[in-house]
Amino acid sequence: MFIKKLQLNNFRNYESEIYEFSDGINLIMGKNAQGKTNCAEAVFLLATGFSPRARRDKQVIRYGEAYAEISATAQSRYGTLSSKIQYYKDSNKKVTINGIETKKVGELLGNIFAVFFSPTELKLIQESPEDRRRFIDISISQLSKRYFYALSKYKKILEQRNNLLKNPDRDLVLDTLPIWDEQLSLYAGEVIFWRNDFISKLSPAAQKAHAFITDGKEVLKVTGASNYQGDAKEIALEIKQALADTVERDLVLGYTTVGPHRDDLKITLNGEDVRVFGSQGQQRTAALSLKLAELDIYNQHFGEYPILILDDAMSELDKSRQQRLLKLISGVQTIVTCTHVDEDVFDGLECKKFVVEGGKIV
Ligand SMILES: Nc1ncnc2c1ncn2[C@@H]1O[C@H](COP(=O)(O)OP(=O)(O)OP(=O)(O)O)[C@@H](O)[C@H]1O
Ligand SMILES: [Mg+2]
Repeated sequence: MFIKKLQLNNFRNYESEIYEFSDGINLIMGKNAQGKTNCAEAVFLLATGFSPRARRDKQVIRYGEAYAEISATAQSRYGTLSSKIQYYKDSNKKVTINGIETKKVGELLGNIFAVFFSPTELKLIQESPEDRRRFIDISISQLSKRYFYALSKYKKILEQRNNLLKNPDRDLVLDTLPIWDEQLSLYAGEVIFWRNDFISKLSPAAQKAHAFITDGKEVLKVTGASNYQGDAKEIALEIKQALADTVERDLVLGYTTVGPHRDDLKITLNGEDVRVFGSQGQQRTAALSLKLAELDIYNQHFGEYPILILDDAMSELDKSRQQRLLKLISGVQTIVTCTHVDEDVFDGLECKKFVVEGGKIV
C-alpha cells in the first residue's frame, strides 16, 4: 500500500500544502522546527486516528484558526482509498472514509495502514508497561477493528468497576460486582486472546528484523506477560474466576488488580532484559525491530506492506545499521524525515526529496 497524496490545511504550522509521494523512499528534509514531524504525524493520524504525540486533538489546529483539515489518497492492491479528518475548535472532529462521513474515529482503522517510528519510540523499551500496551493496542487495532472496539468497551467497563469498588456501601458493591464482572471478563477474554495471537507473530518477526539489522549478532525475543491461554471464551472464564478470587484485595485498594490492563511485554536481547542491560543503541534497534515486525505481520495478514514512517530515526543508527535498514525496507513505501542526509547511505536508491521550510515545501 502507498499514500499518493497528502493534503494539509491549517494543520499545525502548515497553512495549505500538498505532498505528492512516490511509492518508494520519500525524504522530507529541513532544519529543526519546519514541519517534518508534522507531516509524518498527519499521515499516521489518517491511518489510525492516533497521534504519535498530541494528547488532545485540538492542538493540531494551526494557531489562531478555528478549523483544520487533513486528507490522503492511497493506493492498495484493491484500489484507491481515501481518508479525511476535519478538526473544529468548538466541536468534535469529523472523519470521512472513502467519501462516507462518520463520527467514529475507529472507522479510520483498516483503511490506510501505517507504522510510525521515531527516537521517542525508545519509550517502548525504557518506560512503563502502558507504553508497550499502547504499541500493541494500536498495532492490533489496525489489524482488527473488532479488537479496537472490544478494548474500548473493556476500558469503559473497567472504569465503572473501579468506581464501584470505591463505593462505601459494601453490600451494594458485592451485589453489583458480578454483573460487571460478567461483561468485563468477556471483553478481557477477547483482548487477551488477540494479544496472545499478536505476540506469537510479533516475536519471530521482530527477531528476524533484529538479526538482519545487527548482522546476526543479537537475538531479540518478545514474550507476553499474560498467563492466560486458550480461546477468548476460555480466557474469559479464567478472568471471571480471577476477578472473584481477588475481590477482597480490589475492595481494599479501590481498583481492579487482574486483567489485560495489567499486562506487559518482556523484551530480551541474547537472553537478558534489554530494558536493564541494553545499551542505548541496542534499545533503539530493538524498538525499531518491533516496528519493522509490524510490517511483516501486516503483510502476512493483508498481502501488502503498510506505509512506513521513519521520523528522525536514521541519524540515531550507525551507518551500517542505516544501510541494512534501507535494504530491509525495499518494496515498502517509506517516509523518512531528517535534518540532513549522508548522501552515500542513499546511493543507488531512488528517492523523492522534499525540502520543507516554515510549513511550506520549497
Ligand atoms: N497548532 C500549531 N499551529 C502552528 N504551529 C504549530 C502548531 N503545532 C506545532 N506547531 C509548530 O510546528 C513547528 C514544526 O514542528 P515539527 O515538529 O514538524 O518540526 P520538525 O521539522 O520535525 O523539526 P525537528 O527537526 O526539530 O524535529 C514547530 O515550531 C511548532 O511550534
Ligand atoms: Mg521532528
